[in-house]
Amino acid sequence: MQTSWRAAPPSTVGISLEAHISQQMEMSPGATGHFTSLLYQIALAAKLVDAQVRQAGLADVLGYTGDVNVQGERVQKLDTMANDTFITVIQRGQRACAIGSEELEDPILLPGGGRYAVAMDPLDGSSNIDCNISIGTIFGIYRRKSDPSVPGTLDDLLQPGTSLRAAGYLIYGSSTMLVYSTGPKFGVHGFTLDPNIGEFFLSHENIKVPQRGSTYSVNEGNTARWDEATRAWVEYLKQEDKETKRPYGARYVGSLVADAHRTLVKGGIFAYPADRKSPQGKLRLLYEANPMAFIFEAAGGRATSGKERILDIAPHQLHQRTPLIIGSPDDVATFERFAQEGGPVAETRAEPA
Ligand code: AHG
Ligand code: MN
Ligand code: MN
Repeated sequence: MQTSWRAAPPSTVGISLEAHISQQMEMSPGATGHFTSLLYQIALAAKLVDAQVRQAGLADVLGYTGDVNVQGERVQKLDTMANDTFITVIQRGQRACAIGSEELEDPILLPGGGRYAVAMDPLDGSSNIDCNISIGTIFGIYRRKSDPSVPGTLDDLLQPGTSLRAAGYLIYGSSTMLVYSTGPKFGVHGFTLDPNIGEFFLSHENIKVPQRGSTYSVNEGNTARWDEATRAWVEYLKQEDKETKRPYGARYVGSLVADAHRTLVKGGIFAYPADRKSPQGKLRLLYEANPMAFIFEAAGGRATSGKERILDIAPHQLHQRTPLIIGSPDDVATFERFAQEGGPVAETRAEPA
């Protein structure tokens, strides 16, 4: 009996992360596979961190190490474990020339000709670790600028978000997801980890941010420290007005990856604006704001500091901070109308014209 192999019909069912990355590589003329293997390494490190996060309560990885990091924040064991895991795997993979991490004051500069620089927040949402709320990892990948015959340099990391080659995040939540993009041309794709076989499978193909949402996500505990425009913006969202579908719902997890992912998938707006305590904003440009801004713009959303497009900000310091407002185009535009108008608030402010 004649048997003939018929290629499976093109389907997105069961597309693994590896197969997806390889397909994207096929679509990139001149690809050498270096970038592809760097993404594989990040996915491997993520699986190792996921295994630790899943058993955090049992494997004595909760709690503090007693150290304080460059941000002046008490370091949790999972922060250290995640940082060490990503650095070890990426170094061994020899595709990176420089690694900038939230947990390290100075970047790791590597010899060996790696072509990429990686900026990362190895464990985002640390304050939520010991209450079992979603946490994550955020990363951005730049092509190096320095000559490959020498070790990487800090300048390989101090590039604006417009130079990002790729960006993504992990959420260690009810399920573990990896979301990444190599730019607007390729879109934003989400992969869910099947814990039974330790493989990420495509679960959210070509994520697009809705034009407008119905929730706002901001820490209102900072209200007393905000400027008038920010306060007016939040008051506006809370007013009752059928025509403009207000009030918006309030959602705030306190882990950027969780608040950003919900906003990416459902629309609306996330904001960590500047305030009197954090005049430059709290979130870090290189490994929180830029990767998220890259993802949101690739999914049709927007990302601003209130004054300028996040991706245009020229970095001058590894750990510099920025206000971060990301979300649906219409909702970010509303924030900007308040931020650019500024000034004292009229009693019952309608939206600025
Ligand atoms: P990290 O744990 O990496 O330091 O990040 C925490 C950040 C971010 O995840 C979150 O959006 C923000 O801190 C929450 O800050 P507040 O607790 O001040 O709202
Ligand atoms: Mn963070
Ligand atoms: Mn962190």
